Amino acid sequence: MADRVLVTGATGYIGSHTIVELVNAGYEVVGVDDFSNSSRDVLDGIAGIIGRKIPFVEADCSDMAQFSKVFESYPDIRAAIHFAAYKAVGESVGKPVEYFKNNLSSLLNLVDLMRRQPSANIVFSSSCTVYGEPDEGALPISETARTKEATSPYGRSKQICEDMLKDCGRAYENLKITALRYFNPIGAHPSAKIGELPRGVPQNLVPFVTQTAAGLRKELSIFGNDYDTPDGTCIRDYIYVCDLAKAHVAAVNRMLTQDSERYEIFNLGTGNGVSVLELVNTFIKVTGVALPYRFAPRRAGDIVKVWADATKANTVLGWKADTPLDEVLLSAWNWEKKIRNL
Ligand code: UD1
Repeated sequence: MADRVLVTGATGYIGSHTIVELVNAGYEVVGVDDFSNSSRDVLDGIAGIIGRKIPFVEADCSDMAQFSKVFESYPDIRAAIHFAAYKAVGESVGKPVEYFKNNLSSLLNLVDLMRRQPSANIVFSSSCTVYGEPDEGALPISETARTKEATSPYGRSKQICEDMLKDCGRAYENLKITALRYFNPIGAHPSAKIGELPRGVPQNLVPFVTQTAAGLRKELSIFGNDYDTPDGTCIRDYIYVCDLAKAHVAAVNRMLTQDSERYEIFNLGTGNGVSVLELVNTFIKVTGVALPYRFAPRRAGDIVKVWADATKANTVLGWKADTPLDEVLLSAWNWEKKIRNL
């Protein structure tokens, strides 16, 4: 029997792509979601790719009564990947209670349920936001860089969750934890059956770009062109969501089959910094679509430049994000066209 992996936030952006890669790698899964920020249709998208419906339970992970039923129905869970969380940086500033309640309690419930399993392996979705603005000379940034004061409740929830997991790892001997610090996930599955589905006006760059190209938005605002970078716009490490999904499979493989440390952290990025303007120009070049944009004032709280030193993930997990940006942006565009019937 294949090992079963629980995926919380199963119908979310990264969760759905990870389920596809887990199944491709031969794992059994069980997905959990409460559809608070996703759609039931995503389950059909996943089924369309892998050729069958996945075992799935509708439940809110912050509600122990609902969440524990998943373990009653699937007692053979050997690893869990925890995506379920609120993730809008701006929104979190005005809703700290909601963010801490949801993000902390769902993780605590998961640990509480997993520690009763004979094999308790947890992969946690963290973020490069824990590094804040890297010090001069610290780029590319590695896992050994010190973390900085969070600039939003969202960011702080990631830091607190990492700290809680560290303490839990020390306390429960059967528990192994991997925290994955994502840089900027973008793109969609090459089949265009699943992808990113932001609600309302997208806050992140690539969905705003694709919606503008599709005519849903008048123009893209590039936030700031007077930063201390070669072209004046901010620099990020954009990682293809399918590459990111494969890193989760590698992390699960490692915890299940290797004598790994009980608490490990990995940066998941490409190792390349790309400016907003470079990304926009690449999008225009590969799609041939017009993309109206203008330079706008800086966005409050933005980091100027950050990209990953992904050496640890490359060597220890044997994983590399190597899909070219052209291909990634094309996948995002194909997804946008599909959902808009273009
Ligand atoms: C942000 C968070 C990160 C979080 C991620 C989740 C911060 C500092 N970082 O990443 O912790 O995990 O969201 O989604 O809050 N941009 C434009 N125009 C737009 C949108 C974005 O110019 O309409 C620019 C931004 O100024 C930035 C870059 O594009 O320079 C990327 O922005 P975005 O996609 O929002 O991601 P981050 O801010 O890097």
